Amino acid sequence: MNADEAAGPIIAVDGPAGAGKSTVARRVADALGFLYLDTGAMYRALALKALATGADLRDEEALVRLLQETDLVLTAEPGGQVRVWMDGQDVTDELRRPAVNAAVSQVAGFGRVREEMVRRQRGLARGGRIVVDGRDIGTNVFPQAPFKFFLTASLETRARRRQQDLARMGYHVDTATLAEEIRHRDALDAARPYGPLRQAPDAVVIDTTDMEVDAVVAEILRVYRQRA
Ligand code: CDP
Repeated sequence: MNADEAAGPIIAVDGPAGAGKSTVARRVADALGFLYLDTGAMYRALALKALATGADLRDEEALVRLLQETDLVLTAEPGGQVRVWMDGQDVTDELRRPAVNAAVSQVAGFGRVREEMVRRQRGLARGGRIVVDGRDIGTNVFPQAPFKFFLTASLETRARRRQQDLARMGYHVDTATLAEEIRHRDALDAARPYGPLRQAPDAVVIDTTDMEVDAVVAEILRVYRQRA
């Protein structure tokens, strides 16, 4: 299935770690009455399960098997906050743990893991009227999506934002450590052969370094309404 076959529009939001994709995508979906699909949460859930079960993070076969036996459900709370249920358990608050941050890009680098994730993502977006955020949404998952955005920001800004997110969850990490973690994860995500982090040629690029969330949301809505 591609976006042409979906019942309604798909808005793809890609970009590197900490560019604000999930906050912005959730808000855009809310404003338009669309669904929101956080594909990063799906990869994070698999990484969490691999860590919890002691799976070998280098073993593609083992990770694919683990994913195949994993039930993942994403639900939205009023206000658009997404909750992630893995095998019936709410794991939302565990997905942003530092250990998951450190493991997720490795898990997401395997072609067969991505194949299965992309298959699920296309199924979830079948009805259209959805905002989907990730790394390869505009290039690989929905290359026909009529609306594509690529959010960027300086590394310092992204590290600072991530620090604030983590502080709200009770983790205190200095910005230099976070900048290094983000830089490393971006490098892995951009270098992998399957579904790399890449800007689609037809994506609208928004540098959010000096922008408030409201302004980024407004810009996406402006482009959407102009073209819809
Ligand atoms: O919020 P942040 O941008 O830090 O990360 P995320 O969107 O939750 O994604 C976490 C990780 O999942 C990324 O670093 C990628 O390794 C992987 N991912 C991916 O490979 N493909 C996607 N479509 C989404 C996420």
